[in-house]
Amino acid sequence: MFEALKEQPKDKILALVQMYKEDPRTDKIDLGVGVYKDATGATPIMRAVKAAEKQLWEVEQSKSYTALSGDPAFGDAMRDMLLADSVSAENVAAVATPGGTGAVRQAFDLVQMANKDARIFVSDPTWPNHLSILKHMALPTVMYRYFDAETRGVNFEGMIEDLGALKAGDVVLLHGCCHNPTGANLNMTQWQAVIDLMLEKGAIPMIDIAYQGFGDGLEEDAQATRLVASSMPETIIAASCSKNFGIYRERTGLLMTVCNDPSKKALNQGTLNYLNRQNYSFPPDHGARLVTMVLTDPTLKADWKAELEEVRTGMLALRTQLAGELQRLSGSDRFGFLAEHRGMFSRVGATPEQVEKLRVDHSVYMVGDSRMNIAGLNAQTVPILADAIIKAGV
Ligand code: LMR
Repeated sequence: MFEALKEQPKDKILALVQMYKEDPRTDKIDLGVGVYKDATGATPIMRAVKAAEKQLWEVEQSKSYTALSGDPAFGDAMRDMLLADSVSAENVAAVATPGGTGAVRQAFDLVQMANKDARIFVSDPTWPNHLSILKHMALPTVMYRYFDAETRGVNFEGMIEDLGALKAGDVVLLHGCCHNPTGANLNMTQWQAVIDLMLEKGAIPMIDIAYQGFGDGLEEDAQATRLVASSMPETIIAASCSKNFGIYRERTGLLMTVCNDPSKKALNQGTLNYLNRQNYSFPPDHGARLVTMVLTDPTLKADWKAELEEVRTGMLALRTQLAGELQRLSGSDRFGFLAEHRGMFSRVGATPEQVEKLRVDHSVYMVGDSRMNIAGLNAQTVPILADAIIKAGV
């Protein structure tokens, strides 16, 4: 049987991690995988998470199963963080999932189960694994224009034009904040226009939100998700706790449905529970429990928010510094977009050859589409990167 297997395409982001590891150069700069790093290059365990872990070790009495949905307290805490009071709890069903990717996969399962004719509209570009999972599941996928290669901002006209092809029941995959890989985001007026279009077409939004708190602030980054959830009859939300709680390996995520008809809550919840049972039975609990503890204990929450804010403002400072260095070296404002982008990533706009040159000649690792992880920089490496970008001819 196994002889029938074909070699699968390598994930570009994960392949880059391996290449970076194998590079013996000591001055190498890792701007690849989306993992936060502090100025020393470490990915720390956040203070509040560490404190919660210590408490949990003391108080946890059992490792028995929780529930198919995961601990409902996790769903409640996450609903509060993501949606605040934009929708009533009566309209929301939620399950814990293994990471944000688990939630995305489960969301596609849900779409397939509910409407096998639904097409998934995906931004061009998007996180490569979105496309990989959609292909693996053989779900019909339509790309909509999103990024303007010239301005490095959103090509909003193109996006609206392409979303004009939506039919009732189609799903629009949207990044809640901090678009991955571009760093270019819709403003609230543009979000409203997308909502109006989806309402007109009878399309269903699916929001992937993995970087809440990394862009403009914890509340600010949820604004679009809240507007969508409170405006649309049905919304699917896949959320990750990997980045904003720094618990990547704990695999902590949440899949949520919001439906303006509360009589559907039990059916939606039952369906999400069923999907968990089919795919992996009970979702992982440890990370979800830590998140719940942090979000429900005022002291832990305040400390977590303060640290998250340090992370966010640190990345913004690096963006400003990089844009400034590049302005100085290039004598132009053409890299100003770096300070405008939000989140961990920016697509700098280098060609694949220039990305290769950056890696070979300057030991700078970024994803082939020229996505760079801003958190891979520090105040000392920013000028080195700026110089390399100019020398590579970007
Ligand atoms: C990324 O985009 O680099 C992260 O979300 C990590 C991943 O799993 O791809």
